[in-house]
Amino acid sequence: MKVIVTKNYTEMSAKAYEVIKQVMQDTEGKAILGLATGSTPIGLYKNMVADYEAGNVSYKNARSVNLDEYVGLPKTHDQSYYYFMHDNLFNHIDIDEDSVNLPDGNTGDPDKACADYTALLATMQQDVQVLGIGSNGHIGFNEPGTPFDSTTHIVKLHEGTRSDNARFFDSLADVPTHAITMGIANIMNAKKILVLASGQGKASAVKAMVQGPVDPACPASVLQNHPDVVVVVDEAAASLLN
Ligand code: GLP
Repeated sequence: MKVIVTKNYTEMSAKAYEVIKQVMQDTEGKAILGLATGSTPIGLYKNMVADYEAGNVSYKNARSVNLDEYVGLPKTHDQSYYYFMHDNLFNHIDIDEDSVNLPDGNTGDPDKACADYTALLATMQQDVQVLGIGSNGHIGFNEPGTPFDSTTHIVKLHEGTRSDNARFFDSLADVPTHAITMGIANIMNAKKILVLASGQGKASAVKAMVQGPVDPACPASVLQNHPDVVVVVDEAAASLLN
């Protein structure tokens, strides 16, 4: 794992964009981008939009796969990850709507949605997968205890995860109880992984990810087994690292 510590969130986002920009260059614009939601990657997406608007990069030949989606929220709900990705990124760059993919959390047949997404991922190896990290070490919505060989599946969200995300909803009761997420094996299949974390609240998860034992108790610790991981964290998130 390569760990880059930045002064603050703004620098973390700029560094993260350097990684994405390099992947776009290396793939001549045809990258398969694995994308993430949460507040952490918003600054990265702002950098992507700004550089696109400056005419320096085009996403018209890029494709994307997202990590996860809530179960039971329509695409139009402002907290659905479909909505989030369009609002923060896709609506502001030239990626083709047919080239963006998220798991379908709003279907009558969740098992089929999982199988379909895993089949899609088998045809779309991510050139880079962006990850945030939950305060309990989750990646995507792979909560502690998730087997490392898991593929796309439905998860019951931990109460801590629901309360972490409650700030985006009117009340805790409005936070969905379940989500559909890429499994850990799907994440590990990416050619390159870019993990972002900011703030003191992520410090213990970052420590466990980078320096703890590789153990399903901290799902992000599996990344120690991946050959090409870049971790970009600000000083607060890095504060417990040796
Ligand atoms: C959610 C997402 C994760 C994200 C995590 C952290 O649980 N499913 O992909 O990494 O939140 O979110 P934030 O970046 O807002 O701290």
